[in-house]
Amino acid sequence: MALLKYDPSASVFSPGGLASDSLSKLAPQLESARDEVLADVELFHSGGETPPAKQPLDAGFIDLPERLLAELKESGSASQLARIGAAADRLAGAADRVVVLGIGGSYMGARALLEACCHPYYNELSRSARHGRPRMYFEGNNVDNDASQGLVDLLHREHPATQVEDRWAISVISKSGGTIETAVAFRIFLRELEQACGADAEQLAQLIVPVTGPSGKLFELSQRLGCPDVFEIPDGVGGRFSVFTAVGLLPAAILGLDVEELLAGAAVMNDHFRSAPVGENAVLDYVGVGHLMEQDHGAVTRILSTWGKGLEAAGLWYDQLLAESLGKQEHGALPLTVVNTRDLHSRGQQHQEGRRDKLITNLIVEQWGREPLSIGRSDRNEDQLNELADKTLPEVMNAAIAGTNKAYAEDRRPTADLTLKRLDEYHMGQLLQMLMLATVVEGRLIGINPYGQPGVEAYKKHMNEFLRG
Ligand code: PA5
Repeated sequence: MALLKYDPSASVFSPGGLASDSLSKLAPQLESARDEVLADVELFHSGGETPPAKQPLDAGFIDLPERLLAELKESGSASQLARIGAAADRLAGAADRVVVLGIGGSYMGARALLEACCHPYYNELSRSARHGRPRMYFEGNNVDNDASQGLVDLLHREHPATQVEDRWAISVISKSGGTIETAVAFRIFLRELEQACGADAEQLAQLIVPVTGPSGKLFELSQRLGCPDVFEIPDGVGGRFSVFTAVGLLPAAILGLDVEELLAGAAVMNDHFRSAPVGENAVLDYVGVGHLMEQDHGAVTRILSTWGKGLEAAGLWYDQLLAESLGKQEHGALPLTVVNTRDLHSRGQQHQEGRRDKLITNLIVEQWGREPLSIGRSDRNEDQLNELADKTLPEVMNAAIAGTNKAYAEDRRPTADLTLKRLDEYHMGQLLQMLMLATVVEGRLIGINPYGQPGVEAYKKHMNEFLRG
């Protein structure tokens, strides 16, 4: 199975970019940042006191994929993964729509997995085309009046719901259990679900699967409701690093995705990260190039240029990861995801001719999931496409990638390539783990604690003051 490839040689090292030996010169610092990240894992597991300078220390995500897979092997049906799988199958058998309530790190990973690994129009497919798995909607990530009611309109079909197609369920996800957006949405959607279930409190409890910390308001509410399955978000795993806990794995399993493959991909990335030298290490090279471009060339904007639609949500997940982890103490690059070729017609102009403050990383998938679609020949050749009749969409895409890279290179606009073999669970596992590792390595490299998000508290405090008077 192929490992994702990071290749900055396209134009990062061309004139106007980095000197060809700059990455190797940075190697000692990169290796020591890696050592620190790995030592953080040891420190976290040691159970000892975390020094104040290291707090908070949410390094528990790093070896989580290996730990979950090992536990599955050892404990079988009693393991966390087996429990997640069983709850997901139970829910899939009971309901045809699942509303996932959560915000920030408590939903963006799940959404990324859905968009990358499921049919592009998944929710529009029939139940059989979805292999009996439920549709999935995301709410609780805003307090949008019309969007919330729009979803309620969609959910209510038959009262009382007699068949699986008419039933819906909720998975409410919040580590703290007190985030206002998610809590408000849960109150509203719980009321609606209660109505849909009539007086059947047992059915109601069965149709709610909470994922939360070991204590807190949501945990207490789950106990009160008597939900049969409640999943705990382990200590030492921060929200935006939690995609490989039940936060991401439960929705993935509900969709019928192969969560073991996802974790296997992440574990392979860990092995690579631990052992490969600078120059061959996707994580360290990615960090090094981003850091050097920012430090030496003012490239404070990092564009993740995804080619194709399936990776947009992964890009948005990464925007949050980088922004919340490193946007501290007046540091941290600005992450920005674009989806091409779409955004060549919106942001492309600026990337080609705007300020020279950008590093563009192409995120490319080598093999499409479906057979190449040809443009085809037509009697109506007014569009003059017959000369391209034998070309396929992947060929058009490849020409767009090559053409854009060439245009950037001609104007000394640095680009690098991050290539995945396929868009599936295994390669998504690699990608998500690579980006999480890169984020914490960069934090250690520049002396910023990547964990915690103290800056988010200010808006919450003032919002509460305005709300509660
Ligand atoms: O990365 C983080 O920790 C945040 O983005 C959280 O995921 C987000 O604020 C939601 O928090 P909670 O899961 O406590 O509702």
